[in-house]
Amino acid sequence: MLETIATAPPDPILGLTEAFNADSNPDKVNLGVGIYKDAEGRTPTLDCIREAEKIVAAGQTSGGGYLPMTGLAEYDQLTIDLLFGPASAAVREGRVLAAQTPGGTGGLRVAGDFIHAMFPEARIWMSCPTWANHKGIFTASGIAQESYPYYDHATGSLDFDGMTAALSKVPAGDVVLLHACCHNPSGMDPDPAQWKQLAALAAERGFLALFDCAYQGFGDDIDRDVAGLRAFADAGLEMLVASSYSKNFGLYNQRIGAFSVVAPSPDAAMAAMSQAKLCIRVNYSNPPAHGARLVAAVLGDDSLRARWQTEVAAMRDRINSVRRKFVETMASKTDRHDFSFITTQRGMFSFSGLSTEQVHALRDKHAIYMVDSGRISVAGLNDHNLERVCSAIASVL
Ligand code: LMR
Repeated sequence: MLETIATAPPDPILGLTEAFNADSNPDKVNLGVGIYKDAEGRTPTLDCIREAEKIVAAGQTSGGGYLPMTGLAEYDQLTIDLLFGPASAAVREGRVLAAQTPGGTGGLRVAGDFIHAMFPEARIWMSCPTWANHKGIFTASGIAQESYPYYDHATGSLDFDGMTAALSKVPAGDVVLLHACCHNPSGMDPDPAQWKQLAALAAERGFLALFDCAYQGFGDDIDRDVAGLRAFADAGLEMLVASSYSKNFGLYNQRIGAFSVVAPSPDAAMAAMSQAKLCIRVNYSNPPAHGARLVAAVLGDDSLRARWQTEVAAMRDRINSVRRKFVETMASKTDRHDFSFITTQRGMFSFSGLSTEQVHALRDKHAIYMVDSGRISVAGLNDHNLERVCSAIASVL
């Protein structure tokens, strides 16, 4: 049976890392996958995590059995508080429940399976463009997909009018996927007033929002980056959230995220989570413990939490300073293309505006890797490679 199987195409993002790893050029640069790198090109282990490792190791007297299907309870509550804020009415009223998942991708897949099981007719509306893996996840869950305009390529800005015009036609019973912050791949987010407008639109139309929150802290700060989902919660709306600690805790390979549900009543939240547990059980049964213990050790301790916030701010500041340096360096090399929009974007990613042909030329001639769409992971730039990357980009323009 296996002899007849054809080779699958490489993943547009993770397949790029495979090609990068196989490249023997010592000057190669990976601007593909969204993994934070420091000024030396390394992905650091945060100091707060080093401390948390000690705390977790000291507290471990045995390996323990399985975690519950919904993961570590303390982690789930801390995640809810981080997303919505402990003062949130929905949280205080017990209408928010979370389940620890294997990464944000795991959270999205639980959300997808849950949506398909509960609302088989629901379609999911995704921004155009969106993270390359969204389509695959919701296809795997069996959900029909639609898209709404989001990004104006001509100006490098958010197409809010196009977005709201399309969302004004979404029928009740459909689901709208929204990026909580640091939109992947464009780096453009709605502002607080626009989030309120979107919440009003959701209330008027009756669609269900699913927030993908993978970069909390990389945009403006921990709280401002969740202004969107808090605006929806404040408007009394139901919602689903898939969130990740890969980036903001640097815990990429611990696979640590969550699926959260905000329901109209505590009973409705419990019922929804009981259904989500069915999706979890047939998918991965229960999540791994270590990453959750680390995150809970940090978020549950005032001084470690403060240290974490400082470390997230340092990552954010470095990315923003690299954005500025990139724009300045490009301006010194070419006047054929204005890259200044890149400083208005937030998070790890920006659309460079490069065509697929230009992206391929950068890969083939200069060993500089970026996603075919022209998305660059700005976090991969540093003082050692910036000059070379900018010269190479200028040469393909
Ligand atoms: C990305 O978009 O590069 C990240 O979210 C990593 C991934 O899994 O694709």
